[in-house]
Amino acid sequence: MSVKESKPVVHADRYAVVGNPVAHSKSPYIHAQFALQTGERVEYDRLLAPLDGFVQHVQAFHAAGGRGLNVTVPFKLEAHALAHKLSPRAAAAGAVNTLRFDADGIFGDNTDGFGLVRDIEVNLGVALEGARVLLLGAGGAARGVVLPMLERRPREITIVNRTAPKAHALIEQFAGAAGEFGCILSGGGPQDVDPKPYDVIVNATAGSLDAALPECDERAFGTGTLAYDMMYGAQPTVFMRHAQALGARAADGLGMLVEQAAESFFVWRGVRPEGAPVLAALRAQLAAQAA
Ligand code: ATR
Repeated sequence: MSVKESKPVVHADRYAVVGNPVAHSKSPYIHAQFALQTGERVEYDRLLAPLDGFVQHVQAFHAAGGRGLNVTVPFKLEAHALAHKLSPRAAAAGAVNTLRFDADGIFGDNTDGFGLVRDIEVNLGVALEGARVLLLGAGGAARGVVLPMLERRPREITIVNRTAPKAHALIEQFAGAAGEFGCILSGGGPQDVDPKPYDVIVNATAGSLDAALPECDERAFGTGTLAYDMMYGAQPTVFMRHAQALGARAADGLGMLVEQAAESFFVWRGVRPEGAPVLAALRAQLAAQAA
């Protein structure tokens, strides 16, 4: 093409997901769909950082003009430490999954809990307001979703963990916020599960990674229960199959993945994409894999 014919070069703003491993990440696909949908000029890549090289990789990406990053395993705590300013939900989570490079420093946010809440309420149509919620697990994934769930004003949240003291620590951390939102926050070990059906049970344990079922009284699952596993795969997780066998409705974490991405996109661009069509496309891709 001659110089005369060439079109003006329009540079897209650069974003990426940084992790280790990161090759499997669906975020580049999701954000490419969001960019198409909204008309935002966004380019989104994968960034593999060595386990001891997170900060250097982030700084190099920023220096090369990058505008923001999603952060995944195992760097969410390092991202939290790196940010100059934190959103309240990132401070509460103690972890950051979204970095934005502002003129006055690095802003750290955490959109995971928002993604979970939006998937439950909007995509799955279950209101959290007034609901009885059981949260299984008390690690990083659980901690990240407590504040966004409290903000939806459930009647009660019971946090139960195999190692009870970790659940007690979370309950203590969020006691003030629970009071503010009129929610009864309690829990401890598996024996503290109420033997009556909950409205929503969220599996935030790492159990599904190795097909392990967290210990939980079967009477907690009823026909009106939504059993939500934060993990997802081509096949239903062992937790989902268990919940379905007990008569509950089960959902995996694919919608949470899409909705946390939509919220990150909003944090960066001030434009909110629609999660549902992208979720439907990803669901079809997973079904094709499973076939
Ligand atoms: P993540 O960031 O994924 O939350 P984490 O902080 O290591 O990872 O937390 C893992 C969570 O899964 C913990 O609540 C852990 O329970 P413990 O605190 O007792 O270790 C829980 N978990 C992992 N495997 C489990 C299993 N087989 N049964 C029940 N809980 C399990």
